[in-house]
Amino acid sequence: MDSPTLSQALRAGTRDAHIRAERMPFVQRILRKTVVRADYAAYLRSLAEVYKALEERLGGASEWLKALHPRELYRTLALEADLQVLDPKAVAEPVAVAAAAARRIRELPETHVLAQAYVRYLGDLSGGQALAPLVEDALDLRDGAGSAFYRFPGIDPRAFKASYREGLDRLPLDPHQEREVVEAAVRAFQEHESIFRALEEGAEARTREGPPS
Ligand code: HEM
Repeated sequence: MDSPTLSQALRAGTRDAHIRAERMPFVQRILRKTVVRADYAAYLRSLAEVYKALEERLGGASEWLKALHPRELYRTLALEADLQVLDPKAVAEPVAVAAAAARRIRELPETHVLAQAYVRYLGDLSGGQALAPLVEDALDLRDGAGSAFYRFPGIDPRAFKASYREGLDRLPLDPHQEREVVEAAVRAFQEHESIFRALEEGAEARTREGPPS
């Protein structure tokens, strides 16, 4: 049997991690439309830390890595726009594990940056696309204000994902490097699990404290 391509190895290697991520209680808040503004704003602030670091790395990366990630993918500006709508007084704070993940991204070798980008952007262009209407409903958002994060002007998710996978499979990586990318992707999923766990703790604490008087 032929050995799997990188895109196949990534999908198979992160399948279990993906199932765990989908089941996280904070993710369930989004899926079940029980998420509230303060919790969602903390989520976006946490994501903003991660994307800022990731996109700084991608912007200054080698050509092969840059070429896989056009600017239309970048989420930093969309996150800032959503936060202007959802948390204009900047009350929400990122969870500490998100800031730690961002610090780590700034130090990673490029093969690991690739893995981080795969986990974020392919996720955003897959399950992420189904989340916009749920978040808009849960938070009563109108006319796209507050949900720019889910929109990728100039990108057709299905076509992009197909060409991204082709791009991954054309990279001149040896089997050892390919394994390293898959391991780094699993690690990126684990970091997101930690972020979701911390967000859930924050959400539960806010529920206990009740709304601000
Ligand atoms: C809200 C819960 C989630 C749902 C319902 C969901 C759903 C999906 C679905 C249906 C696909 C397959 C799309 C396709 O084959 O083209 C997918 C792929 C993917 N998702 Fe998720 N997802 C969720 C959460 C996440 C999270 C939290 C992450 C990462 C932080 C993530 C990362 C990914 C990645 C990297 C892929 C691409 C896998 C591949 O084909 O290589 N997902 N997701």
